[in-house]
This record gives sequence, C-alpha cells and structure tokens, in this order.
Amino acid sequence: MTLHSAIETLREQFGQDSRKVRAGESDAEQIRVKYLGRKGLVAGLFSKMGSIPATDRPAAGQALNELKTYLTGELEKLSNVPAKGEEDKREDMDYTLPGDPFPKGSIHPITQIMEEIKDIFHHLGFSVAYGPEIDTDFYNFEALNFPPNHPARDMQDTFYIGDSVLRTHTSNTQIHHMMEHDPPVKILAPGRVYRHEDISVRSYCLFHQVEGLFVDKAVTMADLKGDLDYFARSLFGERVKTRFRPSYFPFTEPSAEMDVSCIFCGGKGCNICKYAGWLEILGCGMVDPEVFKSVHYDPTVWQGYAFGMGVERIAMLKFGVEDIRLFFEGDVRFLRQF
Ligand code: DAH
Repeated sequence: MTLHSAIETLREQFGQDSRKVRAGESDAEQIRVKYLGRKGLVAGLFSKMGSIPATDRPAAGQALNELKTYLTGELEKLSNVPAKGEEDKREDMDYTLPGDPFPKGSIHPITQIMEEIKDIFHHLGFSVAYGPEIDTDFYNFEALNFPPNHPARDMQDTFYIGDSVLRTHTSNTQIHHMMEHDPPVKILAPGRVYRHEDISVRSYCLFHQVEGLFVDKAVTMADLKGDLDYFARSLFGERVKTRFRPSYFPFTEPSAEMDVSCIFCGGKGCNICKYAGWLEILGCGMVDPEVFKSVHYDPTVWQGYAFGMGVERIAMLKFGVEDIRLFFEGDVRFLRQF
C-alpha cells in the first residue's frame, strides 16, 4: 500500500470515528489517542518514512504533516461536542438570567473633588492651566517674592534634584502663565505638589493643590471674597458661611485665610473643628506688586487676586476620611467606596 492510499484510508476511518463521537457512542479523547497519541496511527505512518526513497521523503513528510493538522483541527471541533447526557443539561439553562457582573472601576476621590472644583470655577469664567512639577527656584520661589532666606526654601520642606526643585505648591503656575500671556488672566491650576515632610495621618510627601489667579483692571478684595464665598457654598452647600482671617504669604498683599463654618456641626463646635466652629479651607490674597514686576506686568495698571487650596484636605472633610495616606495606597477596598 502506498503512503498516499494509507492516508486516504486513515481519513475515511477517522470520518467514521468522528460520526460515532457526534452520536455519543464514543468520546473525543479516545479518538485523539487512537490517531494522534504517541503510539497512534499517525505516528505509525511517520515511522514508515525510513523505508521511503530519499527523493520522495519531502513530499511524504508534507502529506503527513497536512494530515496531522487536519486531524488536530477536527478533534478540536469534536471535543466541543457535548458528552452523552450533557445536551439535556444545556436545555435546562435559563437564558433570561442576568450575566455575571463585570466589575467597574471608579474615579479616584481626589480626581472627583478636583473635577468638582474645576466645574465651580468654570462658572466664574476660569480656564484651566498646567505648570511643571519639576521646576526651578525662580518659578517656585524667587518670582513669587520669597526672600532669599525664607524658611520655605529650607531643605526640610523642598525636594531638590540638582538645580531643580519639585514644586512645593501650584503657585509656580501663576508665574509660568503670566510670563507666557498678557493680562487679563483668569486661570485655575490644579496639580500635584511635593514636600519633604514626615509622613503621618495629616501629611504626605505628595499631595494636590488647586491654584487660582485672576488679573484684570480694578480687581478688588471684594471680588476675591465674593467669588470664594460662592465657591464654598457650591462645594459644601448653600448654608455654609465663610470668614476671612488676615494671614501672610510672600506673593500676596494683603493675605488671608478663608474658613468655612464647620460642615459637621454647622458651627456649634465638634471634635472635627476642635470646637472652633470653623474649618480652614484655603489661602488667598491680592497679588503682590513684586510678583507683577517679576513677570513684567505693570502693577499700576493691573490688579489681581490669587488663592490656593489643598485638595486632600477638602476631600478628607467632604468624605470623612481620617488618614491622608489612604488616597495614595491604591487599596481597592478604600477606593470602591467612592
Ligand atoms: N501656595 C500656598 C501654599 O502652598 C497657598 C496659597 C496661598 C496660594 C495664598 C495662593 C495664595 O495663590 O494667594 O500654602
């Protein structure tokens, strides 16, 4: 018998065997072993290769390989044929049942709060600007009127990378933006900031801020108070009251801190507001003329207000989170709750 007719016979035989599998009289695995097993019929044909004249061997090898590929494909199909008795079970399936739930991710709480803050200021006409996280002393400090020996430049607070600094606040974006754009300016600058601080429940080496800057002719402290009061009521609810306390920042004059009436006790006093009735939310003030000089804006023509807030702090208050580190650990048991 030639190899060619041996292959034909084997194919016919395989056809009959596979009909038996479909009829449930035999099973696919048994057939696989019979044909493709180590001592199976195909291996048997391969072992005859030695007795074939050398010139015919390549064609014979190819024919056998084709046979093997064909059988492998057919067996694959056969192994999907339900075993005897299994078909009945399939008919019992209830196709109207809902499928397995597909687990969805969620937006990180910090991102959620930043989006909310952006939306609120969008209504007040602010557009969004981004500044670099790795910057120079000039943008992070000098142009913002930090005196040469100001404690905020101290190695304790700032991460240095060669001549660069990891920005300690988003205020650097004020300088970048004003250097690149003529006034008027109305921007909101969200982003990450870095501080060389001991890590604790309250502070982390990395956190987020949102910075605001509005520069125009005749901008006053009244604009600042009105806009930030609107912001606080939009974020924390209409009933929230604000107050401004005098403060100090090198880049604003006058400077202030804004408090909101405690969102937990309404101002009566509780352990969250430490019985003060107020929660500190942000720093702000009128842009110092020295800052305008460093970006070549004429301070006799332009005025502005600026503010900056910590996003984690706001998120902790809004969501009642007691440990800042939870925002950075990526633990889904925490993140799933938002
Ligand atoms: N940069 C300040 C900080 O990191 C926050 C700040 C205060 C920003 C007052 C301002 C501002 O723009 O006017 O603590």
